[in-house]
Amino acid sequence: MSDDQTGMKKGLTRYGDDAFSLFLRKAFIKAMGYTDDALNRPIIGIADTFSGYNACHKTVPDLIEAVKRGVMLAGGLPVEFPTISIHESFAHPTSMFLRNLMSMDTEEMIRAQPMDAVVLIGGCDKTVPALLMGAASANVPAIVCVTGPMGTGSHKGERLGACTDCRRMWGKFRAGEIDEAEIEDISSKLVPTAGTCGVMGTASTMALMTEAMGMMLPGGAAIPAWASDRLRHAEETGTRAVALAKEKVTPDQIITQAALNNAMKTLLAIGGSTNGIVHMAAVAGRLGLNVDLDAFDTMGRDVPMLVDLKPNGSYYMEDLWKAGGLTTILREIEDLLDLDCPTVSGKTLGENLAAMAPGWQQDVVRPRGNPLFSKGSMAVLRGNLAPNGAVLKQSAADQGLLVHEGRAVVFENLEDLAERIDSADLDVTADDVLVLRNIGPKGAPGMPEAGYIPIPKKLASQGVKDMVRISDGRMSGTAFGTIILHVSPEAADGGPLALVQTGDRIRLDTPNRSLTLLVDDTEMTARRAAWTPPPAHKGSGRGYLKLYLDTVTQAEDGADFDFLQATGDS
Ligand code: FES
Repeated sequence: MSDDQTGMKKGLTRYGDDAFSLFLRKAFIKAMGYTDDALNRPIIGIADTFSGYNACHKTVPDLIEAVKRGVMLAGGLPVEFPTISIHESFAHPTSMFLRNLMSMDTEEMIRAQPMDAVVLIGGCDKTVPALLMGAASANVPAIVCVTGPMGTGSHKGERLGACTDCRRMWGKFRAGEIDEAEIEDISSKLVPTAGTCGVMGTASTMALMTEAMGMMLPGGAAIPAWASDRLRHAEETGTRAVALAKEKVTPDQIITQAALNNAMKTLLAIGGSTNGIVHMAAVAGRLGLNVDLDAFDTMGRDVPMLVDLKPNGSYYMEDLWKAGGLTTILREIEDLLDLDCPTVSGKTLGENLAAMAPGWQQDVVRPRGNPLFSKGSMAVLRGNLAPNGAVLKQSAADQGLLVHEGRAVVFENLEDLAERIDSADLDVTADDVLVLRNIGPKGAPGMPEAGYIPIPKKLASQGVKDMVRISDGRMSGTAFGTIILHVSPEAADGGPLALVQTGDRIRLDTPNRSLTLLVDDTEMTARRAAWTPPPAHKGSGRGYLKLYLDTVTQAEDGADFDFLQATGDS
């Protein structure tokens, strides 16, 4: 915080006369109709991420009203303010390109405006990490309230939900199993309500990790967007924000290394999105902490995957809510967690779990003794193709491909992929390894979720459902397959992925955590000497794109901007 003042006196605009600054500030805010009594209360900012482009945030106005009610019941003054809102399907070139911008906007708006605590309302994939990153850097008392998952739809009696079923149905369409009229009809059924994707995608993953980390009130992650419980949770969040303001509990007291470890264990137990690793690394970096990929891989040997949600399993988020939400999951791995971590509820994680209702018979969260996947849902791979690491969500892979050697079929970039992947002339077999490069943080740019390389049409129509696929990009948490992601360093930065040629042999050995390009060192040295970086992106000489390309870090550092990471002087 820039000073130790509170309420309206906090962070005064600099006119060289603080008394005048306060006088002027009050004069303007009184135009909103506030009394002096209201203006003397603790001020709770509410980050408003409503946008007409963002159906995942359609309910934000209702949530704001509920948060305000909670703030006022506790004697505070709620003041909402806008921040950037990002929806996955409405962000060009990709939402990840804008996550850091949203985090900067959030940080600076929290810092610039008088608020004693802030309620962060987000939901869609990049919004929760961006809000957490910004709040961690601003370090004003903060609490997260998510919009909650959407409900499920139905098509010809089959239950549907975004977005695992979006991909599954699109795969059927590509394979010629359903026609154009039917896929059009399905597009009206996939997103039947407001709210975030109803499977274990990035939004669900981030919501559950945020609750596990202690930045959300217990039980908040899984409540559907359509449930009245969601509004009650928002009201309680507002009430609690006033207490956080009075107690001066800042994010750095909640987001500790132990809390991050709890979140990473949760990620493994839920079989969450691989994006959770990147986002949590970025949040950690804001506080001078880190997500150690090798430690994460080691955790995976103890934490089995327990949650039977798509894309790993068969249920949806509304089913997880009915099964007790995160509490049911954490109780299964309680002995592996640091239960002493403080949370925004004012109690420790262990106290929160003890205070929740006892569990009941359900089949969405498996007991430890009967996991959905016993080996750790994600594996961190290393080798000459990924010296700084790569990630494979092995729980969503064809188990027969986890140890595989094949011939590389290389796509230079997204344009090359689009041009050739469905060509009848593409020289490819089901045993080959598809390689897509230049889709990393700098490459695409923005590290798009294009790592889910489609099965070439000629193979898809023969019934091929999975192949080993490798890229320096990301993948939606709603996707599935033997897909190796986040290869680092990325190709555009001169990583070894840039040197792979079609016809090379690549070996994946997941049990031994290795990813190897079977090309000898002499040949690799020659290829490196001949390598030239890809052409500069159009428009990269100025503006946000220039800032992004000049300062974005690699996946293992969260793809945050280097200058946004903690330096110890803020
Ligand atoms: Fe918003 Fe999936 S598109 S959560």
